[in-house]
Amino acid sequence: MNSSAGSGGEMEVDSNKQEIFQRKRNAVLVNGVILNGPITDSKSGEKFVEDACKIIMEEVIQKAADVTEKVCEWQPPEKLKKLLDLEMRDTGEPHQKLLQLCQDIIRYSVKTNHPRFFNQLYAGIDYYSLVARFITEALNPSVYTYEVSPVFLLVEEAVLKRMIEFIGWKEGDGIFNPGGSVSNMYAMNLARYKYCPDIKEKGLSGLPRLVLFTSEECHYSMNKAASFLGIGTQNVYFITTDARGKMIPEELEKQVQRARKEGAAPFLVCATAGTTVLGAFDPLDKIADICEKHGLWLHVDASWGGSALMSRKHRKLLHGIHRADSVAWNPHKMLMAGIQCCALLVKDNSDLLKKCYSAKASYLFQQDKFYDVSYDTGDKSIQCSRRPDAFKFWMTWKALGTTGLEERVNRALALARYLVDEIKKREGFQLLLEPEYANICFWYIPSSLRKMEEGPEFWEKLHQVAPVIKERMMKKGSMMLGYQPHRGKVNFFRQVVISPQVSREDMDFLLDEIDLLGRDL
Ligand SMILES: Cc1ncc(COP(=O)(O)O)c(C=O)c1O
Repeated sequence: MNSSAGSGGEMEVDSNKQEIFQRKRNAVLVNGVILNGPITDSKSGEKFVEDACKIIMEEVIQKAADVTEKVCEWQPPEKLKKLLDLEMRDTGEPHQKLLQLCQDIIRYSVKTNHPRFFNQLYAGIDYYSLVARFITEALNPSVYTYEVSPVFLLVEEAVLKRMIEFIGWKEGDGIFNPGGSVSNMYAMNLARYKYCPDIKEKGLSGLPRLVLFTSEECHYSMNKAASFLGIGTQNVYFITTDARGKMIPEELEKQVQRARKEGAAPFLVCATAGTTVLGAFDPLDKIADICEKHGLWLHVDASWGGSALMSRKHRKLLHGIHRADSVAWNPHKMLMAGIQCCALLVKDNSDLLKKCYSAKASYLFQQDKFYDVSYDTGDKSIQCSRRPDAFKFWMTWKALGTTGLEERVNRALALARYLVDEIKKREGFQLLLEPEYANICFWYIPSSLRKMEEGPEFWEKLHQVAPVIKERMMKKGSMMLGYQPHRGKVNFFRQVVISPQVSREDMDFLLDEIDLLGRDL
Protein backbone atom coordinates (compact mmCIF):
# COMPACT_ATOMS: atom_id res chain seq x y z
CA MET A 1 0.00 0.00 0.00
CA ASN A 2 2.68 2.41 1.16
CA SER A 3 5.02 1.80 -1.74
CA SER A 4 2.29 2.19 -4.33
CA ALA A 5 1.10 5.41 -2.64
CA GLY A 6 4.74 6.55 -2.68
CA SER A 7 5.27 5.81 -6.36
CA GLY A 8 1.93 7.47 -7.16
CA GLY A 9 3.21 10.59 -5.36
CA GLU A 10 6.50 10.53 -7.30
CA MET A 11 4.63 10.20 -10.58
CA GLU A 12 2.56 13.22 -9.64
CA VAL A 13 5.69 15.25 -8.85
CA ASP A 14 7.20 14.20 -12.21
CA SER A 15 4.14 15.22 -14.14
CA ASN A 16 4.03 18.58 -12.28
CA LYS A 17 7.67 19.19 -13.19
CA GLN A 18 6.93 18.32 -16.79
CA GLU A 19 3.98 20.68 -16.83
CA ILE A 20 6.10 23.52 -15.45
CA PHE A 21 8.84 22.77 -17.95
CA GLN A 22 6.30 22.76 -20.78
CA ARG A 23 4.85 26.04 -19.59
CA LYS A 24 8.26 27.64 -19.47
CA ARG A 25 9.01 26.41 -22.99
CA ASN A 26 5.77 27.91 -24.32
CA ALA A 27 6.00 30.94 -22.07
CA VAL A 28 4.31 34.11 -23.22
CA LEU A 29 6.08 37.04 -21.66
CA VAL A 30 4.62 40.53 -21.33
CA ASN A 31 6.78 43.11 -19.63
CA GLY A 32 8.87 40.26 -18.27
CA VAL A 33 5.84 38.54 -16.69
CA ILE A 34 5.11 34.91 -17.67
CA LEU A 35 1.42 34.68 -18.46
CA ASN A 36 1.05 30.94 -19.00
CA GLY A 37 -1.15 29.08 -16.54
CA PRO A 38 -2.55 30.37 -13.27
CA ILE A 39 -0.12 31.50 -10.61
CA THR A 40 -2.32 30.51 -7.66
CA ASP A 41 -1.29 27.43 -5.77
CA SER A 42 -4.83 26.16 -5.33
CA LYS A 43 -3.87 23.01 -3.41
CA SER A 44 -2.06 25.00 -0.80
CA GLY A 45 -4.91 27.55 -0.69
CA GLU A 46 -7.46 24.82 -0.15
CA LYS A 47 -5.40 23.36 2.68
CA PHE A 48 -5.23 26.80 4.29
CA VAL A 49 -9.02 27.17 4.11
CA GLU A 50 -9.44 23.70 5.59
CA ASP A 51 -7.07 24.41 8.49
CA ALA A 52 -8.64 27.81 9.15
CA CYS A 53 -12.14 26.28 9.14
CA LYS A 54 -10.99 23.83 11.79
CA ILE A 55 -9.84 26.73 13.96
CA ILE A 56 -13.14 28.55 13.44
CA MET A 57 -15.04 25.40 14.40
CA GLU A 58 -13.03 24.83 17.56
CA GLU A 59 -12.32 28.35 18.70
CA VAL A 60 -15.52 30.13 17.76
CA ILE A 61 -18.41 27.77 17.13
CA GLN A 62 -17.77 25.14 19.78
CA LYS A 63 -16.77 27.63 22.44
CA ALA A 64 -19.78 29.81 21.64
CA ALA A 65 -22.03 27.53 23.65
CA ASP A 66 -19.72 27.27 26.65
CA VAL A 67 -20.49 29.65 29.51
CA THR A 68 -17.23 28.77 31.21
CA GLU A 69 -15.32 30.45 28.37
CA LYS A 70 -14.59 34.18 28.52
CA VAL A 71 -16.82 36.63 26.64
CA CYS A 72 -13.83 38.83 25.97
CA GLU A 73 -10.14 38.96 26.65
CA TRP A 74 -9.71 42.65 27.30
CA GLN A 75 -6.47 44.38 26.32
CA PRO A 76 -5.94 48.14 26.05
CA PRO A 77 -5.27 49.30 22.45
CA GLU A 78 -1.52 49.90 22.78
CA LYS A 79 -0.96 46.48 24.33
CA LEU A 80 -3.22 44.79 21.80
CA LYS A 81 -1.26 46.35 18.95
CA LYS A 82 1.85 44.67 20.33
CA LEU A 83 0.13 41.32 20.90
CA LEU A 84 -1.13 41.21 17.33
CA ASP A 85 1.28 41.30 14.45
CA LEU A 86 -0.50 44.05 12.53
CA GLU A 87 2.26 45.18 10.19
CA MET A 88 1.87 44.43 6.49
CA ARG A 89 5.26 43.59 4.97
CA ASP A 90 6.80 43.34 1.51
CA THR A 91 6.89 39.57 1.64
CA GLY A 92 3.98 37.33 2.53
CA GLU A 93 3.80 35.22 5.68
CA PRO A 94 3.82 31.40 5.70
CA HIS A 95 0.57 29.56 6.39
CA GLN A 96 1.55 28.46 9.87
CA LYS A 97 2.10 32.07 10.84
CA LEU A 98 -1.22 33.06 9.26
CA LEU A 99 -3.04 30.32 11.14
CA GLN A 100 -1.49 31.55 14.37
CA LEU A 101 -2.70 35.04 13.47
CA CYS A 102 -6.21 33.65 12.95
CA GLN A 103 -6.04 32.15 16.45
CA ASP A 104 -4.91 35.51 17.89
CA ILE A 105 -7.61 37.44 16.06
CA ILE A 106 -10.25 35.11 17.49
CA ARG A 107 -8.71 35.11 20.95
CA TYR A 108 -8.77 38.88 21.37
CA SER A 109 -12.12 39.43 19.64
CA VAL A 110 -15.31 39.79 21.62
CA LYS A 111 -17.40 36.61 21.50
CA THR A 112 -20.74 38.15 20.59
CA ASN A 113 -22.02 34.59 20.20
CA HIS A 114 -21.35 33.80 23.88
CA PRO A 115 -24.47 33.31 26.04
CA ARG A 116 -23.35 36.13 28.33
CA PHE A 117 -22.86 38.80 25.70
CA PHE A 118 -25.73 41.19 26.48
CA ASN A 119 -24.07 44.36 25.29
CA GLN A 120 -25.93 45.15 22.11
CA LEU A 121 -29.25 44.63 20.36
CA TYR A 122 -27.88 41.47 18.78
CA ALA A 123 -26.30 38.40 20.35
CA GLY A 124 -25.80 34.67 20.14
CA ILE A 125 -25.10 32.18 17.42
CA ASP A 126 -27.56 30.96 14.84
CA TYR A 127 -25.98 27.97 13.16
CA TYR A 128 -28.13 28.11 10.04
CA SER A 129 -27.56 31.76 9.38
CA LEU A 130 -23.87 31.12 9.91
CA VAL A 131 -23.80 28.39 7.27
CA ALA A 132 -25.68 30.70 4.90
CA ARG A 133 -22.97 33.24 5.52
CA PHE A 134 -20.23 30.69 4.84
CA ILE A 135 -21.89 29.78 1.55
CA THR A 136 -22.22 33.36 0.40
CA GLU A 137 -18.72 34.25 1.56
CA ALA A 138 -17.44 31.38 -0.56
CA LEU A 139 -19.61 32.12 -3.60
CA ASN A 140 -19.09 35.88 -3.29
CA PRO A 141 -22.20 36.93 -5.21
CA SER A 142 -23.38 40.47 -5.68
CA VAL A 143 -27.11 40.94 -5.66
CA TYR A 144 -27.84 43.31 -8.48
CA THR A 145 -28.71 41.23 -11.50
CA TYR A 146 -30.36 37.88 -12.01
CA GLU A 147 -27.49 36.79 -14.23
CA VAL A 148 -25.00 37.09 -11.37
CA SER A 149 -27.25 36.18 -8.42
CA PRO A 150 -30.17 34.09 -9.68
CA VAL A 151 -30.72 32.19 -6.45
CA PHE A 152 -30.14 35.04 -4.01
CA LEU A 153 -32.44 37.41 -5.87
CA LEU A 154 -35.25 34.85 -5.70
CA VAL A 155 -34.48 34.25 -2.02
CA GLU A 156 -34.66 37.99 -1.32
CA GLU A 157 -37.98 38.21 -3.15
CA ALA A 158 -39.39 35.30 -1.12
CA VAL A 159 -38.21 36.74 2.22
CA LEU A 160 -39.51 40.25 1.47
CA LYS A 161 -42.87 38.79 0.50
CA ARG A 162 -43.22 36.98 3.84
CA MET A 163 -42.07 40.01 5.83
CA ILE A 164 -44.66 42.12 3.99
CA GLU A 165 -47.33 39.58 4.96
CA PHE A 166 -46.30 39.82 8.61
CA ILE A 167 -46.68 43.61 8.48
CA GLY A 168 -50.20 43.01 7.23
CA TRP A 169 -49.93 44.55 3.77
CA LYS A 170 -51.53 42.80 0.82
CA GLU A 171 -48.64 43.77 -1.40
CA GLY A 172 -45.50 45.83 -1.29
CA ASP A 173 -41.89 46.11 -2.22
CA GLY A 174 -38.58 46.21 -0.39
CA ILE A 175 -34.84 45.90 -0.39
CA PHE A 176 -32.22 44.59 2.01
CA ASN A 177 -29.77 47.25 3.18
CA PRO A 178 -26.55 47.40 5.13
CA GLY A 179 -28.19 48.43 8.40
CA GLY A 180 -31.35 49.84 9.94
CA SER A 181 -29.78 53.29 9.84
CA VAL A 182 -29.50 52.99 6.08
CA SER A 183 -33.09 51.72 5.86
CA ASN A 184 -34.25 54.79 7.77
CA MET A 185 -32.30 57.00 5.40
CA TYR A 186 -33.83 55.23 2.39
CA ALA A 187 -37.30 55.76 3.85
CA MET A 188 -36.67 59.45 4.52
CA ASN A 189 -35.45 59.97 0.97
CA LEU A 190 -38.33 57.94 -0.45
CA ALA A 191 -40.90 59.96 1.48
CA ARG A 192 -39.30 63.15 0.21
CA TYR A 193 -39.27 61.82 -3.36
CA LYS A 194 -42.97 60.99 -3.06
CA TYR A 195 -43.57 64.53 -1.74
CA CYS A 196 -41.58 66.20 -4.52
CA PRO A 197 -40.55 63.78 -7.30
CA ASP A 198 -38.73 66.56 -9.15
CA ILE A 199 -36.03 66.46 -6.51
CA LYS A 200 -34.32 63.56 -8.25
CA GLU A 201 -33.36 65.75 -11.19
CA LYS A 202 -33.57 69.26 -9.81
CA GLY A 203 -32.04 68.78 -6.38
CA LEU A 204 -32.78 70.74 -3.24
CA SER A 205 -32.83 74.29 -4.58
CA GLY A 206 -36.27 75.77 -4.78
CA LEU A 207 -37.77 73.38 -2.23
CA PRO A 208 -39.71 74.67 0.78
CA ARG A 209 -38.24 73.94 4.23
CA LEU A 210 -39.08 70.27 4.69
CA VAL A 211 -39.82 69.09 8.22
CA LEU A 212 -40.09 65.60 9.64
CA PHE A 213 -41.26 64.40 13.03
CA THR A 214 -39.94 61.67 15.24
CA SER A 215 -39.91 60.97 18.96
CA GLU A 216 -37.28 62.09 21.44
CA GLU A 217 -36.46 58.41 21.91
CA CYS A 218 -35.82 57.71 18.22
CA HIS A 219 -32.60 56.17 16.96
CA TYR A 220 -29.79 58.62 16.21
CA SER A 221 -29.88 57.58 12.56
CA MET A 222 -32.79 60.02 12.11
CA ASN A 223 -30.51 62.98 12.71
CA LYS A 224 -27.78 61.44 10.57
CA ALA A 225 -30.18 60.83 7.71
CA ALA A 226 -31.59 64.36 7.93
CA SER A 227 -28.13 65.87 7.77
CA PHE A 228 -26.89 63.50 5.05
CA LEU A 229 -29.92 64.15 2.86
CA GLY A 230 -29.67 67.91 3.19
CA ILE A 231 -32.88 68.21 5.20
CA GLY A 232 -30.96 69.52 8.20
CA THR A 233 -31.12 68.38 11.79
CA GLN A 234 -32.98 71.55 12.81
CA ASN A 235 -35.83 70.35 10.65
CA VAL A 236 -36.24 67.17 12.64
CA TYR A 237 -38.96 68.04 15.15
CA PHE A 238 -38.66 65.82 18.17
CA ILE A 239 -41.94 64.86 19.77
CA THR A 240 -42.22 64.54 23.52
CA THR A 241 -42.61 61.04 24.89
CA ASP A 242 -44.50 59.73 27.89
CA ALA A 243 -42.90 58.12 30.94
CA ARG A 244 -42.45 54.85 29.05
CA GLY A 245 -40.71 56.50 26.13
CA LYS A 246 -43.65 56.43 23.69
CA MET A 247 -44.42 59.31 21.36
CA ILE A 248 -47.42 61.35 22.59
CA PRO A 249 -49.78 61.67 19.59
CA GLU A 250 -51.32 64.94 20.83
CA GLU A 251 -47.83 66.46 20.89
CA LEU A 252 -47.26 65.26 17.34
CA GLU A 253 -50.46 66.98 16.22
CA LYS A 254 -49.29 70.21 17.89
CA GLN A 255 -45.87 70.05 16.22
CA VAL A 256 -47.35 69.42 12.76
CA GLN A 257 -49.53 72.49 13.22
CA ARG A 258 -46.54 74.49 14.45
CA ALA A 259 -44.55 73.56 11.33
CA ARG A 260 -47.47 74.56 9.12
CA LYS A 261 -47.79 77.92 10.90
CA GLU A 262 -44.07 78.49 10.36
CA GLY A 263 -44.64 78.05 6.63
CA ALA A 264 -42.58 74.85 6.54
CA ALA A 265 -43.58 71.71 4.65
CA PRO A 266 -44.18 68.69 6.90
CA PHE A 267 -43.73 65.52 4.88
CA LEU A 268 -42.86 62.60 7.15
CA VAL A 269 -43.42 61.04 10.55
CA CYS A 270 -40.92 58.42 11.74
CA ALA A 271 -42.44 56.37 14.52
CA THR A 272 -40.35 53.85 16.44
CA ALA A 273 -41.43 50.32 17.26
CA GLY A 274 -38.93 49.23 19.88
CA THR A 275 -36.72 52.14 20.88
CA THR A 276 -33.03 51.51 21.28
CA VAL A 277 -32.61 52.21 24.97
CA LEU A 278 -36.01 51.73 26.60
CA GLY A 279 -37.58 49.31 24.11
CA ALA A 280 -40.72 51.47 23.81
CA PHE A 281 -43.32 51.13 21.08
CA ASP A 282 -44.96 54.29 19.72
CA PRO A 283 -48.78 54.16 19.41
CA LEU A 284 -48.84 53.48 15.68
CA ASP A 285 -52.60 53.53 15.17
CA LYS A 286 -53.03 57.00 16.63
CA ILE A 287 -49.95 58.27 14.81
CA ALA A 288 -51.33 56.84 11.55
CA ASP A 289 -54.55 58.83 12.11
CA ILE A 290 -52.54 62.04 12.31
CA CYS A 291 -50.50 61.13 9.24
CA GLU A 292 -53.68 60.41 7.31
CA LYS A 293 -55.26 63.67 8.40
CA HIS A 294 -52.24 65.73 7.31
CA GLY A 295 -51.19 63.67 4.30
CA LEU A 296 -47.80 62.68 5.81
CA TRP A 297 -45.75 59.61 4.97
CA LEU A 298 -45.59 57.26 7.95
CA HIS A 299 -42.32 55.39 8.36
CA VAL A 300 -41.99 52.92 11.23
CA ASP A 301 -38.50 52.21 12.46
CA ALA A 302 -39.10 48.67 13.64
CA SER A 303 -35.43 47.78 13.31
CA TRP A 304 -35.45 46.39 16.82
CA GLY A 305 -39.11 45.71 17.61
CA GLY A 306 -40.26 44.40 14.20
CA SER A 307 -39.44 40.86 15.21
CA ALA A 308 -42.33 40.90 17.69
CA LEU A 309 -44.51 40.58 14.58
CA MET A 310 -43.48 36.91 14.47
CA SER A 311 -45.17 36.28 17.80
CA ARG A 312 -48.95 35.95 18.03
CA LYS A 313 -48.64 36.83 21.70
CA HIS A 314 -46.57 39.99 21.29
CA ARG A 315 -47.43 41.36 17.85
CA LYS A 316 -50.00 43.64 19.46
CA LEU A 317 -47.07 45.84 20.45
CA LEU A 318 -47.03 46.94 16.81
CA HIS A 319 -50.78 47.37 16.48
CA GLY A 320 -51.45 49.63 13.48
CA ILE A 321 -48.18 48.91 11.65
CA HIS A 322 -50.14 47.87 8.55
CA ARG A 323 -51.04 51.56 8.14
CA ALA A 324 -47.38 52.55 7.67
CA ASP A 325 -46.03 53.55 4.26
CA SER A 326 -42.64 52.06 5.02
CA VAL A 327 -41.06 49.89 7.69
CA ALA A 328 -37.44 49.22 8.66
CA TRP A 329 -37.01 45.77 10.22
CA ASN A 330 -33.69 44.12 11.14
CA PRO A 331 -33.80 40.32 11.38
CA HIS A 332 -30.17 40.57 12.55
CA LYS A 333 -31.34 41.77 15.94
CA MET A 334 -33.96 39.66 17.74
CA LEU A 335 -34.12 36.97 15.04
CA MET A 336 -30.36 36.45 15.02
CA ALA A 337 -29.63 36.51 11.31
CA GLY A 338 -25.96 37.40 10.99
CA ILE A 339 -25.04 41.06 10.79
CA GLN A 340 -26.09 42.71 8.56
CA CYS A 341 -29.61 41.66 7.70
CA CYS A 342 -31.96 44.63 7.44
CA ALA A 343 -34.96 45.18 5.23
CA LEU A 344 -36.73 48.32 4.20
CA LEU A 345 -40.29 47.42 3.29
CA VAL A 346 -42.52 49.73 1.33
CA LYS A 347 -46.27 49.54 0.98
CA ASP A 348 -46.37 51.28 -2.40
CA ASN A 349 -46.58 48.91 -5.29
CA SER A 350 -46.06 51.35 -8.15
CA ASP A 351 -42.31 50.82 -8.35
CA LEU A 352 -41.65 53.90 -6.21
CA LEU A 353 -38.39 52.45 -4.86
CA LYS A 354 -37.07 51.93 -8.36
CA LYS A 355 -38.29 55.29 -9.64
CA CYS A 356 -36.63 57.00 -6.70
CA TYR A 357 -33.29 55.22 -6.78
CA SER A 358 -32.66 53.86 -10.27
CA ALA A 359 -29.81 55.16 -12.39
CA LYS A 360 -30.38 52.68 -15.27
CA ALA A 361 -26.69 51.87 -15.80
CA SER A 362 -26.62 50.48 -19.32
CA TYR A 363 -23.64 48.22 -18.68
CA LEU A 364 -25.45 46.38 -15.89
CA PHE A 365 -29.19 46.70 -16.38
CA GLN A 366 -29.45 46.13 -20.11
CA GLN A 367 -33.07 45.96 -21.17
CA ASP A 368 -32.46 43.53 -24.06
CA LYS A 369 -31.22 40.61 -21.95
CA PHE A 370 -32.41 37.10 -22.75
CA TYR A 371 -34.39 36.75 -19.49
CA ASP A 372 -37.08 38.66 -17.57
CA VAL A 373 -35.18 41.79 -16.51
CA SER A 374 -37.71 42.65 -13.81
CA TYR A 375 -35.58 40.27 -11.71
CA ASP A 376 -32.61 42.65 -12.00
CA THR A 377 -33.74 44.39 -8.83
CA GLY A 378 -30.41 45.99 -7.96
CA ASP A 379 -31.40 49.35 -9.38
CA LYS A 380 -33.80 49.81 -6.43
CA SER A 381 -30.74 50.16 -4.26
CA ILE A 382 -28.33 53.03 -3.81
CA GLN A 383 -25.58 50.41 -3.76
CA CYS A 384 -23.99 48.79 -6.75
CA SER A 385 -22.38 45.69 -5.20
CA ARG A 386 -24.74 44.31 -2.56
CA ARG A 387 -24.49 41.32 -0.24
CA PRO A 388 -27.15 38.61 -0.24
CA ASP A 389 -28.25 39.36 3.31
CA ALA A 390 -31.77 37.98 2.97
CA PHE A 391 -30.28 34.50 2.52
CA LYS A 392 -29.08 34.41 6.16
CA PHE A 393 -32.59 35.02 7.41
CA TRP A 394 -34.11 32.64 4.85
CA MET A 395 -31.88 29.81 6.04
CA THR A 396 -32.85 30.35 9.67
CA TRP A 397 -36.54 30.63 8.77
CA LYS A 398 -36.26 27.40 6.74
CA ALA A 399 -34.56 25.63 9.65
CA LEU A 400 -36.82 26.82 12.48
CA GLY A 401 -40.05 27.47 10.65
CA THR A 402 -42.29 30.36 11.58
CA THR A 403 -43.18 28.66 14.83
CA GLY A 404 -39.52 28.33 15.77
CA LEU A 405 -38.98 32.05 15.18
CA GLU A 406 -42.09 32.81 17.21
CA GLU A 407 -40.79 30.60 20.02
CA ARG A 408 -37.50 32.50 19.97
CA VAL A 409 -39.26 35.83 20.46
CA ASN A 410 -41.59 34.45 23.13
CA ARG A 411 -38.74 32.91 25.07
CA ALA A 412 -36.62 36.08 24.96
CA LEU A 413 -39.53 38.10 26.30
CA ALA A 414 -40.33 35.49 28.96
CA LEU A 415 -36.70 35.59 30.13
CA ALA A 416 -36.88 39.38 30.22
CA ARG A 417 -39.97 39.08 32.43
CA TYR A 418 -38.13 36.65 34.72
CA LEU A 419 -35.24 39.10 35.07
CA VAL A 420 -37.62 41.95 35.88
CA ASP A 421 -39.23 39.89 38.65
CA GLU A 422 -35.81 38.98 40.06
CA ILE A 423 -34.69 42.63 40.00
CA LYS A 424 -37.79 43.56 41.96
CA LYS A 425 -37.02 40.91 44.58
CA ARG A 426 -33.34 41.74 45.08
CA GLU A 427 -31.98 44.34 47.41
CA GLY A 428 -29.81 46.93 45.66
CA PHE A 429 -31.46 46.61 42.27
CA GLN A 430 -33.93 49.16 40.97
CA LEU A 431 -35.90 49.09 37.72
CA LEU A 432 -36.16 52.32 35.76
CA LEU A 433 -39.47 51.34 34.24
CA GLU A 434 -41.62 48.32 33.46
CA PRO A 435 -40.28 47.08 30.12
CA GLU A 436 -42.52 46.39 27.15
CA TYR A 437 -39.93 44.41 25.27
CA ALA A 438 -36.50 42.82 25.81
CA ASN A 439 -34.70 45.93 27.13
CA ILE A 440 -34.48 45.84 30.91
CA CYS A 441 -33.16 49.09 32.32
CA PHE A 442 -32.05 49.12 35.93
CA TRP A 443 -29.69 50.60 38.47
CA TYR A 444 -27.47 48.68 40.80
CA ILE A 445 -27.20 50.53 44.09
CA PRO A 446 -24.19 49.42 46.15
CA SER A 447 -24.75 49.04 49.88
CA SER A 448 -22.85 52.29 50.62
CA LEU A 449 -25.58 54.24 48.81
CA ARG A 450 -28.61 52.30 49.95
CA LYS A 451 -29.33 54.45 52.98
CA MET A 452 -28.51 57.75 51.30
CA GLU A 453 -31.28 60.19 50.45
CA GLU A 454 -31.99 60.45 46.71
CA GLY A 455 -30.48 63.94 46.33
CA PRO A 456 -27.83 65.33 43.93
CA GLU A 457 -24.98 63.61 45.79
CA PHE A 458 -26.74 60.24 45.58
CA TRP A 459 -27.31 60.58 41.82
CA GLU A 460 -23.77 61.77 41.21
CA LYS A 461 -22.36 58.78 43.08
CA LEU A 462 -24.76 56.35 41.41
CA HIS A 463 -23.72 57.71 38.02
CA GLN A 464 -20.21 56.38 38.67
CA VAL A 465 -21.26 52.86 39.64
CA ALA A 466 -22.15 51.27 36.28
CA PRO A 467 -18.90 52.30 34.48
CA VAL A 468 -16.78 50.75 37.23
CA ILE A 469 -18.76 47.50 37.20
CA LYS A 470 -18.53 47.43 33.42
CA GLU A 471 -14.75 47.83 33.57
CA ARG A 472 -14.49 45.03 36.09
CA MET A 473 -16.69 42.61 34.12
CA MET A 474 -14.72 43.21 30.94
CA LYS A 475 -11.36 42.79 32.59
CA LYS A 476 -12.60 39.56 34.13
CA GLY A 477 -14.27 38.53 30.86
CA SER A 478 -17.31 37.17 32.66
CA MET A 479 -20.02 38.99 30.69
CA MET A 480 -20.76 42.13 28.71
CA LEU A 481 -23.66 44.40 29.48
CA GLY A 482 -24.35 47.94 28.28
CA TYR A 483 -24.89 51.07 30.35
CA GLN A 484 -25.72 54.65 29.53
CA PRO A 485 -27.03 57.88 30.93
CA HIS A 486 -30.29 58.67 29.24
CA ARG A 487 -32.35 61.82 29.07
CA GLY A 488 -31.65 63.12 32.54
CA LYS A 489 -31.24 59.71 34.15
CA VAL A 490 -27.78 58.86 35.49
CA ASN A 491 -25.90 55.81 34.19
CA PHE A 492 -27.99 52.65 34.32
CA PHE A 493 -27.59 49.15 32.93
CA ARG A 494 -29.55 48.03 29.89
CA GLN A 495 -29.87 44.29 29.73
CA VAL A 496 -31.05 42.89 26.40
CA VAL A 497 -32.29 39.33 26.07
CA ILE A 498 -32.17 37.78 22.62
CA SER A 499 -30.46 34.44 22.17
CA PRO A 500 -32.09 31.06 22.89
CA GLN A 501 -28.72 29.97 24.30
CA VAL A 502 -29.46 32.22 27.27
CA SER A 503 -31.17 30.57 30.21
CA ARG A 504 -32.69 31.50 33.55
CA GLU A 505 -29.34 30.60 35.10
CA ASP A 506 -27.67 33.32 33.04
CA MET A 507 -30.20 35.85 34.33
CA ASP A 508 -29.40 34.84 37.91
CA PHE A 509 -25.69 34.95 37.12
CA LEU A 510 -26.02 38.44 35.70
CA LEU A 511 -27.48 39.84 38.91
CA ASP A 512 -25.11 37.85 41.16
CA GLU A 513 -22.13 39.02 39.12
CA ILE A 514 -23.13 42.70 39.22
CA ASP A 515 -23.54 42.41 42.96
CA LEU A 516 -20.20 40.62 43.30
CA LEU A 517 -18.36 43.18 41.18
CA GLY A 518 -20.00 46.22 42.72
CA ARG A 519 -20.71 45.49 46.35
CA ASP A 520 -17.56 47.29 47.57
CA LEU A 521 -18.35 50.52 45.71
C1 LIG B 1 -34.57 51.58 16.82
C2 LIG B 1 -33.33 51.39 16.00
N1 LIG B 1 -33.31 51.86 14.75
C3 LIG B 1 -32.23 51.73 13.96
C4 LIG B 1 -31.10 51.12 14.44
C5 LIG B 1 -29.89 51.04 13.56
O1 LIG B 1 -29.74 49.78 13.05
P1 LIG B 1 -28.30 49.35 12.44
O2 LIG B 1 -27.41 49.18 13.60
O3 LIG B 1 -28.61 48.08 11.71
O4 LIG B 1 -27.88 50.45 11.54
C6 LIG B 1 -31.07 50.62 15.73
C7 LIG B 1 -29.85 49.98 16.26
O5 LIG B 1 -29.76 49.55 17.33
C8 LIG B 1 -32.22 50.76 16.54
O6 LIG B 1 -32.24 50.34 17.80
